Amino acid sequence: MSKVVICDHPLIQHKLTFIRNKDTNTKDFRELVDEVATLMAYEITRDIPLDTITVETPVATTEAKVVSGRMLGLIPILRAGLGMVEGMLKLIPAAKVGHIGLVRDHETLQPLEYYINLPTDAANRQLIVIDPMLATGGSAIAAINSLKKRGCDQIRLMCLIAAPEGVKAVQDAHPDIDIYLAALDDALNEKGYIVPGLGDAGDRLFGTN
Ligand code: URA
Repeated sequence: MSKVVICDHPLIQHKLTFIRNKDTNTKDFRELVDEVATLMAYEITRDIPLDTITVETPVATTEAKVVSGRMLGLIPILRAGLGMVEGMLKLIPAAKVGHIGLVRDHETLQPLEYYINLPTDAANRQLIVIDPMLATGGSAIAAINSLKKRGCDQIRLMCLIAAPEGVKAVQDAHPDIDIYLAALDDALNEKGYIVPGLGDAGDRLFGTN
């Protein structure tokens, strides 16, 4: 079974409190999400492999570590996932970025993929699917299905806040996928919002609420 990692660094928890606050304005919300994404990038890359190279310092020649050739790919789910991309790229600027757009089909209520654009070598990359809110899990599961269908098998999921229902759904559908969160909240309400959550992440990021 996959692991669920709660990134509970005090700075992440502090910033998340202001992200949750309904009185935080769009500019501050966007900046805080960006900062939390940077801090979470640190956690999600904690175990990436290192190579040893020789480096000459001004004083001596020594063996030192560099991140190995393993390539990363960020896959934000449109549109809210976009809010976490720049923050992650601050720490991993060489990562490539693909996009998946999903919309809910009005008849089946299932997520329908309307857009996908991936790095050509996505199947050789360690991919990080990004969606701030893991609610029912439907979008994350559909995005991961789509990536696996294209031969991608190294995938992690990164969200700001999850409901237990969403975590369980992803684990049931994709037991191989590790999930990184800033917080695991209480539940979903009858409208599909995470409680206590932060409201609609896309609306708050883009000022459309
Ligand atoms: N999507 C959001 O943006 N917020 C929620 O609470 C649930 C899904």
